[in-house]
Amino acid sequence: MNTFATDHDDTTVIERHIHSGAVCCDPAWEEAYKRFESPEEEIEKFIKRLRLMGFENRPRDIRVAELFCGRGGGLVALTRLGFTNIEGVDLSETLLLQNQTGATLHLADCRDLPFEDASVDAVIIHGGLHHLPTLPEDLDQVLSEIHRVLCDEGTFHAVEPWLTPFLRFVHAVIEVPAVRKFYAKGDALAVMIQHERETYEQWLNQPAAIRKLLGKYFKSGMNRTAWGKIIYTGVKDKFASEIPAS
Ligand SMILES: C[S@@+](CC[C@H](N)C(=O)[O-])C[C@H]1O[C@@H](n2cnc3c(N)ncnc32)[C@H](O)[C@@H]1O
Repeated sequence: MNTFATDHDDTTVIERHIHSGAVCCDPAWEEAYKRFESPEEEIEKFIKRLRLMGFENRPRDIRVAELFCGRGGGLVALTRLGFTNIEGVDLSETLLLQNQTGATLHLADCRDLPFEDASVDAVIIHGGLHHLPTLPEDLDQVLSEIHRVLCDEGTFHAVEPWLTPFLRFVHAVIEVPAVRKFYAKGDALAVMIQHERETYEQWLNQPAAIRKLLGKYFKSGMNRTAWGKIIYTGVKDKFASEIPAS
């Protein structure tokens, strides 16, 4: 694969592994995403998550890759916690261009990661797997790539939507027009769901297949579902590659 770097300002370098122009999120989704929470609120949320997932106890020079990194709130959170060797991967050059962390950024598809085998210490995803178009095949592909690039004892961390009773309640509430009128965040969420409905529902409706695939590649540590999310942490299972594909 040809790779070439493009400098956009003093600190942002994007390594392009695919042609730019891939569009994930339509403008309406993008607009709702921006008003759902401010960048600063999002960064604070990510810092709390990283602490919960044990990042405060990790050496600050480990190589960390954030997949589906979007505009880079998760990379800013890592920077604020002191991590110095961080990289982001996303399909959207428009979102990558909004990054201002100095991290190395890769314009690439997470189904084909631009990293050497066993070269990354930790992989993080803050919401991205539920955008994959075909489940369970694409999830198998992404997890297999994460397994390939992680070092022995490397860790995988993901936070994704999960159909808990709370999320069912939220779905019901944001159907009510008056709620959307007076609760801006609820309206933003409703618009985002509307514009990603196909992949979002496909994700929410396959919990058993998702858990099976996580177990195929990782030994799970934290595996919590609450408040409409799964918070998952796993360690690379060294023997996973010997298991025949299902
Ligand atoms: C919900 S956004 C999450 C962004 C980021 N994780 C955050 O919380 O700010 C989903 C992101 O996934 C990216 N994306 C979707 N499919 C992808 C793929 N196959 N490979 C890489 N990125 C992808 C989109 O461009 C978008 O930035």
